[in-house]
Amino acid sequence: MSGGEFKRVQESQTVLKELMVPSYANFGGKVHGGVILSLMDKIAYTCAASHAKGYCVTASVDSVDFLNPVEVGELLTLYSSVNYVGNSSMEIGIKVVSEDFKNGIVKHTNTSYFTMVSLDEESRRPVPMPGLILETEEDIRRFIEGKIRRELKRGHRLEMSKIKKELDMIKEINKLEGENCKLYKS
Ligand SMILES: CC(C)(COP(=O)(O)OP(=O)(O)OC[C@H]1O[C@@H](n2cnc3c(N)ncnc32)[C@H](O)[C@@H]1OP(=O)(O)O)[C@@H](O)C(=O)NCCC(=O)NCCS
Repeated sequence: MSGGEFKRVQESQTVLKELMVPSYANFGGKVHGGVILSLMDKIAYTCAASHAKGYCVTASVDSVDFLNPVEVGELLTLYSSVNYVGNSSMEIGIKVVSEDFKNGIVKHTNTSYFTMVSLDEESRRPVPMPGLILETEEDIRRFIEGKIRRELKRGHRLEMSKIKKELDMIKEINKLEGENCKLYKS
């Protein structure tokens, strides 16, 4: 699967720090969620490409819940680590914290999981990547949880595609009563 090569989790762990400047603010004066998502994509790529030693793309991103708003002037720190490795895909875990220097407050902003796929740059086809050497209890726990998340996501994708194929629109329309929508009648 990995062509016999295995790498330590620690080798590709990456930390990214960025000061939240005024140009990152949204209309409400807080940092725009898209700025944080872009930094998350950047660190996911860095961590993935460092493990795979080559070109990678983002295949999917787990739900991202913003637990706390980020203020202009705070320092954002993103931590990333390869949690799980399949054949050509891997799960990168990302934790984001923001720090308010003035008051010494550190907040957990969000945690998310990115699936990155290692590609051959010319053919753009997925290629196998090194496996992971699990050295600590945390490495093992994260690997097992990543494997479970991958299985759950696959199951969910299959179930959703089956539901879409079998969808009875008339029956579903009748279930819309009480929902916050209005059927447009021409
Ligand atoms: C991701 C991509 C390379 C997968 O290509 P594919 O032909 O479906 O490849 P495969 O079916 O062989 O899957 C390759 C691996 O990706 C994983 N994968 C594919 N689609 C996935 C998805 N939506 N979510 C999670 N994993 C996915 C597969 O499970 C497989 O993992 P494994 O090798 O570890 O078992 C392809 O869909 C792609 O290029 N997408 C665009 C990516 C991109 O441009 N991202 C930036 C957005 S701007």
